Amino acid sequence: MELIDTSRIPNHIAIIMDGNGRWAKQKGHDRIYGHSNGVESVRESIKTAREFNVKYLTLYAFSTENWNRPKEEIDALMDLLVTTIISEIEELKENDVRLKIIGNVELLPEKCIQALKDAEERTASNKGLTLILALSYSSRWEITNAVKEILKNGCAQNEITEELVSSYLNTAGIPEPELLIRTSGEQRISNFLLWQIAYTEFYFTEVHWPDFKRDEFLKAILEYQNRERRFGKISEQIKA
Ligand code: FPP
Repeated sequence: MELIDTSRIPNHIAIIMDGNGRWAKQKGHDRIYGHSNGVESVRESIKTAREFNVKYLTLYAFSTENWNRPKEEIDALMDLLVTTIISEIEELKENDVRLKIIGNVELLPEKCIQALKDAEERTASNKGLTLILALSYSSRWEITNAVKEILKNGCAQNEITEELVSSYLNTAGIPEPELLIRTSGEQRISNFLLWQIAYTEFYFTEVHWPDFKRDEFLKAILEYQNRERRFGKISEQIKA
């Protein structure tokens, strides 16, 4: 922890939480057990993000493609989501965490929509950390939706800029992530924040999500701090 430079903490960290199912299977349990244990890693990531003054934390909790999973697993994940949101809301408020949901929320069960809307409203004035949950989310859906809205609003061709497109995404107003973490050994993006990660540093770890605790979170930050971000420039220009 003393190796971390607190003046260079990423402002926005995005995480693809992967490996709950494999973690559970290795322990001889069903996949749901993995998801339930994954909640503790979610809590710890939020706590650690707050501790190190990360301002935005985006968690990929349920992708559009996840709707293709067996119904029992989807139902269990939705239940877990509602119970976790309800049981954690006071803690989020106490810790100055604002909740924001991105994704095609309309597809979620009504009880989820209500719980999430309520939690967003009750944490709306918090400023410490913005916790963004990507639910029923896919980046291609988000970009396609943005294109439809841009056309619907009758934007002229010469008005279309990168800033305008960004402003039509679910993440409008949220700075792009400096660091993207994916757990569990897979090295792919799985339709997550494709527009927003143009210059993001990627960190892949073999650790399954339920084992991704404070130390692992800090390891990812440390690795990020050892990277040189050039944004297309050369090394000497960055150091000047
Ligand atoms: C990926 O593991 C995990 C998910 C699709 C769900 C993540 C959900 C949680 C951690 C719990 C609820 C979250 C919140 C925010 C309260 P996987 O099932 O793809 O694992 P596998 O690749 O080993 O099969």
